[in-house]
Amino acid sequence: MENLEEKLNVLYTENEIQERIAEIAKMIDNDYKDCKELITICILKGAAFFTVDLVKKMKTPIVFEVMQVSSYSGTESTGAISIKKDLDADIEGKDVLIVEDIIDTGYTLRALRQALLERKPKSLKIAVLTDKKERRKVEVPVDYVGYEIPNKFVVGYGFDVDEYGRNIPYIGYIEE
Ligand code: IMP
Ligand code: MG
Repeated sequence: MENLEEKLNVLYTENEIQERIAEIAKMIDNDYKDCKELITICILKGAAFFTVDLVKKMKTPIVFEVMQVSSYSGTESTGAISIKKDLDADIEGKDVLIVEDIIDTGYTLRALRQALLERKPKSLKIAVLTDKKERRKVEVPVDYVGYEIPNKFVVGYGFDVDEYGRNIPYIGYIEE
Protein backbone atom coordinates (compact mmCIF):
# COMPACT_ATOMS: atom_id res chain seq x y z
CA MET A 1 0.00 0.00 0.00
CA GLU A 2 1.52 3.31 -1.09
CA ASN A 3 1.70 6.45 0.99
CA LEU A 4 0.16 4.84 4.03
CA GLU A 5 2.37 6.87 6.35
CA GLU A 6 1.20 10.11 4.75
CA LYS A 7 -2.30 9.36 6.03
CA LEU A 8 -1.13 8.72 9.57
CA ASN A 9 -1.15 10.99 12.59
CA VAL A 10 1.35 9.92 15.24
CA LEU A 11 -0.28 8.65 18.41
CA TYR A 12 2.80 7.22 20.15
CA THR A 13 6.38 7.55 18.97
CA GLU A 14 8.85 4.71 18.84
CA ASN A 15 10.58 6.03 21.99
CA GLU A 16 7.36 6.48 23.92
CA ILE A 17 6.34 2.93 23.11
CA GLN A 18 9.66 1.50 24.28
CA GLU A 19 9.51 3.48 27.52
CA ARG A 20 5.98 2.33 28.21
CA ILE A 21 6.90 -1.28 27.47
CA ALA A 22 9.82 -1.04 29.92
CA GLU A 23 7.33 0.02 32.60
CA ILE A 24 5.06 -2.91 31.82
CA ALA A 25 8.03 -5.32 31.87
CA LYS A 26 8.91 -4.05 35.34
CA MET A 27 5.35 -4.58 36.58
CA ILE A 28 5.32 -8.10 35.20
CA ASP A 29 8.71 -8.96 36.72
CA ASN A 30 7.47 -7.64 40.03
CA ASP A 31 4.30 -9.76 39.89
CA TYR A 32 6.17 -12.92 38.84
CA LYS A 33 9.09 -12.60 41.28
CA ASP A 34 8.93 -16.25 42.33
CA CYS A 35 8.06 -17.62 38.91
CA LYS A 36 10.60 -20.03 37.43
CA GLU A 37 8.94 -20.31 34.05
CA LEU A 38 6.39 -17.99 32.49
CA ILE A 39 4.86 -19.08 29.23
CA THR A 40 4.35 -15.95 27.18
CA ILE A 41 1.93 -16.40 24.32
CA CYS A 42 2.36 -13.96 21.47
CA ILE A 43 -0.85 -13.65 19.51
CA LEU A 44 0.09 -13.45 15.85
CA LYS A 45 0.45 -11.44 13.89
CA GLY A 46 -0.18 -8.05 15.42
CA ALA A 47 1.33 -8.68 18.86
CA ALA A 48 4.65 -10.00 17.52
CA PHE A 49 6.27 -6.58 17.70
CA PHE A 50 5.04 -5.84 21.22
CA THR A 51 5.81 -9.31 22.58
CA VAL A 52 9.39 -9.37 21.36
CA ASP A 53 10.15 -5.94 22.83
CA LEU A 54 8.36 -6.82 26.07
CA VAL A 55 10.08 -10.13 26.80
CA LYS A 56 13.49 -8.65 25.96
CA LYS A 57 12.93 -6.13 28.75
CA MET A 58 11.76 -8.75 31.28
CA LYS A 59 13.95 -10.63 33.75
CA THR A 60 11.43 -13.39 34.50
CA PRO A 61 12.46 -16.64 32.75
CA ILE A 62 10.07 -17.17 29.86
CA VAL A 63 9.14 -19.76 27.31
CA PHE A 64 8.21 -18.01 24.09
CA GLU A 65 5.10 -19.38 22.44
CA VAL A 66 3.01 -18.13 19.55
CA MET A 67 -0.58 -18.68 18.67
CA GLN A 68 -2.69 -17.44 15.81
CA VAL A 69 -6.41 -17.11 16.07
CA SER A 70 -8.92 -15.52 13.80
CA SER A 71 -12.11 -13.83 14.79
CA TYR A 72 -11.99 -10.88 12.58
CA SER A 73 -13.24 -10.27 9.07
CA GLY A 74 -13.27 -6.81 7.58
CA THR A 75 -13.38 -4.36 10.45
CA GLU A 76 -15.81 -5.98 12.92
CA SER A 77 -15.16 -8.89 15.25
CA THR A 78 -17.47 -11.83 15.55
CA GLY A 79 -17.97 -13.81 18.75
CA ALA A 80 -16.15 -17.02 17.92
CA ILE A 81 -12.49 -17.70 17.22
CA SER A 82 -10.78 -20.41 15.28
CA ILE A 83 -7.26 -21.48 16.14
CA LYS A 84 -5.08 -21.20 13.04
CA LYS A 85 -1.82 -21.99 14.83
CA ASP A 86 -1.85 -23.65 18.22
CA LEU A 87 0.74 -23.72 20.99
CA ASP A 88 3.66 -26.14 21.02
CA ALA A 89 3.68 -26.22 24.82
CA ASP A 90 1.32 -27.98 27.15
CA ILE A 91 0.24 -25.24 29.57
CA GLU A 92 -1.38 -27.42 32.22
CA GLY A 93 -0.09 -26.36 35.63
CA LYS A 94 1.97 -23.52 34.13
CA ASP A 95 1.98 -19.77 34.59
CA VAL A 96 0.77 -18.24 31.35
CA LEU A 97 0.68 -14.71 30.01
CA ILE A 98 -1.26 -13.88 26.85
CA VAL A 99 0.29 -10.94 24.98
CA GLU A 100 -2.04 -9.16 22.57
CA ASP A 101 -1.81 -5.95 20.60
CA ILE A 102 -5.30 -4.61 21.27
CA ILE A 103 -8.49 -5.27 23.08
CA ASP A 104 -11.39 -3.81 21.20
CA THR A 105 -14.82 -5.44 21.57
CA GLY A 106 -13.19 -8.08 23.76
CA TYR A 107 -14.62 -11.03 21.83
CA THR A 108 -11.24 -12.35 20.67
CA LEU A 109 -9.59 -12.27 24.09
CA ARG A 110 -12.63 -13.60 25.88
CA ALA A 111 -12.83 -16.62 23.59
CA LEU A 112 -9.08 -17.17 23.69
CA ARG A 113 -8.99 -16.92 27.47
CA GLN A 114 -11.84 -19.43 27.75
CA ALA A 115 -10.07 -21.85 25.41
CA LEU A 116 -6.81 -21.62 27.35
CA LEU A 117 -8.46 -21.94 30.76
CA GLU A 118 -9.81 -25.30 29.64
CA ARG A 119 -6.20 -26.47 29.45
CA LYS A 120 -5.88 -25.84 33.20
CA PRO A 121 -2.92 -23.47 33.52
CA LYS A 122 -1.80 -22.65 37.06
CA SER A 123 -2.39 -18.98 36.30
CA LEU A 124 -3.47 -17.00 33.27
CA LYS A 125 -2.98 -13.28 32.81
CA ILE A 126 -3.38 -10.94 29.87
CA ALA A 127 -1.19 -8.07 28.68
CA VAL A 128 -2.36 -5.75 25.93
CA LEU A 129 -0.51 -2.89 24.36
CA THR A 130 -3.65 -0.89 23.65
CA ASP A 131 -7.21 -0.82 24.91
CA LYS A 132 -10.12 0.74 23.01
CA LYS A 133 -12.21 0.76 26.14
CA GLU A 134 -15.23 2.54 24.73
CA ARG A 135 -15.68 -0.23 22.17
CA ARG A 136 -15.95 -3.05 24.73
CA LYS A 137 -18.89 -5.41 24.24
CA VAL A 138 -17.87 -8.13 26.69
CA GLU A 139 -15.88 -7.91 29.89
CA VAL A 140 -12.46 -9.53 29.95
CA PRO A 141 -10.02 -9.28 32.87
CA VAL A 142 -6.92 -7.56 31.51
CA ASP A 143 -3.94 -7.38 33.84
CA TYR A 144 -1.55 -5.07 31.98
CA VAL A 145 -2.51 -2.26 29.62
CA GLY A 146 -0.01 -0.14 27.72
CA TYR A 147 -2.35 2.58 26.59
CA GLU A 148 -6.04 3.32 26.62
CA ILE A 149 -6.63 4.67 23.15
CA PRO A 150 -9.49 6.55 21.49
CA ASN A 151 -11.83 4.82 19.08
CA LYS A 152 -9.67 5.42 16.02
CA PHE A 153 -8.17 2.94 13.59
CA VAL A 154 -4.53 2.54 14.56
CA VAL A 155 -1.69 1.45 12.29
CA GLY A 156 1.98 0.62 12.87
CA TYR A 157 4.00 -1.28 15.46
CA GLY A 158 2.13 -4.45 14.53
CA PHE A 159 -1.21 -2.90 13.63
CA ASP A 160 -2.19 -3.32 10.02
CA VAL A 161 -4.54 -2.07 7.38
CA ASP A 162 -5.21 -5.20 5.34
CA GLU A 163 -1.73 -6.52 6.25
CA TYR A 164 0.11 -3.29 5.41
CA GLY A 165 1.86 -1.01 7.84
CA ARG A 166 2.80 -3.45 10.58
CA ASN A 167 6.48 -2.47 10.31
CA ILE A 168 5.90 1.25 10.77
CA PRO A 169 7.87 1.78 13.99
CA TYR A 170 5.38 4.11 15.72
CA ILE A 171 1.64 3.90 16.31
CA GLY A 172 -0.41 6.24 14.17
CA TYR A 173 -4.08 6.62 13.43
CA ILE A 174 -6.05 7.30 10.31
CA GLU A 175 -8.37 10.24 10.64
CA GLU A 176 -11.79 9.13 9.41
P1 IMP B 1 -11.76 -7.68 19.36
O1 IMP B 1 -12.15 -9.12 19.28
O2 IMP B 1 -12.87 -6.80 18.89
O3 IMP B 1 -11.27 -7.26 20.73
O4 IMP B 1 -10.68 -7.45 18.22
C1 IMP B 1 -9.34 -7.43 18.36
C2 IMP B 1 -8.71 -7.49 16.97
O5 IMP B 1 -9.23 -6.45 16.14
C3 IMP B 1 -7.24 -7.24 17.04
O6 IMP B 1 -6.51 -8.44 17.18
C4 IMP B 1 -6.94 -6.52 15.72
O7 IMP B 1 -6.57 -7.44 14.72
C5 IMP B 1 -8.24 -5.89 15.31
N1 IMP B 1 -8.27 -4.42 15.48
C6 IMP B 1 -9.11 -3.74 16.28
N2 IMP B 1 -8.90 -2.42 16.20
C7 IMP B 1 -7.87 -2.24 15.35
C8 IMP B 1 -7.17 -1.07 14.87
O8 IMP B 1 -7.44 0.07 15.25
N3 IMP B 1 -6.17 -1.28 13.99
C9 IMP B 1 -5.82 -2.53 13.57
N4 IMP B 1 -6.45 -3.65 13.98
C10 IMP B 1 -7.47 -3.51 14.87
MG1 MG C 1 -5.59 -7.10 11.93
